[in-house]
Amino acid sequence: MGKTEKTEKAKERREKRRQEISLLRTIPYSDHQRWWSAETIAVVTGGNRGIGFEITRQLAAHGVTVILTSRDPNVGLEAANVLQEGGLNVFFHQLDVLEPVSIKEFCDWLVENYGGLDILVNNAAVNYNQGSDNSVEHAAQVCFTNYYGTKNMIQALIPLMKHSSAGGRIVNVSSRLGRLNGKRNKIEDQNLREQLANTETLTEEIIDGAVNSFLKQVEEGTWESGGWPKTFTDYSVSKLAVNTYTRLMAKILSDRPEDEKIYINCYCPGWVKTAMTGYAGNISAEEGADTAVWLALLPDQAITGKFFAERREIKY
Ligand SMILES: NC(=O)c1ccc[n+]([C@@H]2O[C@H](COP(=O)([O-])OP(=O)(O)OC[C@H]3O[C@@H](n4cnc5c(N)ncnc54)[C@H](OP(=O)(O)O)[C@@H]3O)[C@@H](O)[C@H]2O)c1
Repeated sequence: MGKTEKTEKAKERREKRRQEISLLRTIPYSDHQRWWSAETIAVVTGGNRGIGFEITRQLAAHGVTVILTSRDPNVGLEAANVLQEGGLNVFFHQLDVLEPVSIKEFCDWLVENYGGLDILVNNAAVNYNQGSDNSVEHAAQVCFTNYYGTKNMIQALIPLMKHSSAGGRIVNVSSRLGRLNGKRNKIEDQNLREQLANTETLTEEIIDGAVNSFLKQVEEGTWESGGWPKTFTDYSVSKLAVNTYTRLMAKILSDRPEDEKIYINCYCPGWVKTAMTGYAGNISAEEGADTAVWLALLPDQAITGKFFAERREIKY
């Protein structure tokens, strides 16, 4: 098959799945599937715009109480007001996923007002490249926000997860660009790939080590020959770390007793028309949010440590 034909086929498949999902979204959850209520608390990071705003809106439309967080209090409050005016249970609190004081204040407020949370959606992220650009000028900011920010929230909020038979849920918004074994955009070092792939021997130090080694090479100006992913390198490294950390945490969390279970998964929203892509992309933020909401609300959840796109598991 020629390249154009392959692209056409992929486009057809994508369109077909897009239609399937829009149909699936019209099917309401039945009463016995609804493990949640207005007492169920979800926290969404970077909820003031884009996919995070849509995840907030859709979760609230399903009847969950959602805490919309944003690093900028003015835009966050405004976004929450818009959703409240639409009759949704959405409340705002400031949260910068990179600021320890902000995280601490948020956690204290959450416990005092809601007694904890049931669902965490780690959506906040940055990316400074567009099209074929591949600058690493902001590599530290990208890796810190996307990976360490996600980790900060997971570490801070796990102790605040409410105990329930449905289990707590963590959804990490990630990207196919961060796949370890994708056809394209791979880390070239097979040894490192194997270390990151092996959940039996994987540790936080291995993941941090890979990210820090990339950042060190950026600082030294040697990253281009380091065998890192070729497209949006800093962003891909950060999301690869998120995907790998998701698998590591799923393993660590699997030891928790019944009623204290926490399920953690990640997903790629697709190429979405948001500020991050300069409003390029082939789907809306509403569609991009779908798999996060689906994962957060899965009835009979036992799935953990997996990577999804368009409501299906995909290769890590
Ligand atoms: N758009 C796509 O095609 C695409 C594809 C794959 C994955 N994703 C992922 O989808 C998620 C949402 O992206 P988007 O497309 O909706 O982009 P976006 O419109 O740029 O939204 C990103 C959000 O993250 C927030 N944020 C950044 N740094 C933060 C920090 N330190 N603390 C708290 N919040 C912070 C931003 O806040 P400010 O408004 O204050 O900047 C904004 O609310 C990201 O994880 C992204 O990597 C997007």
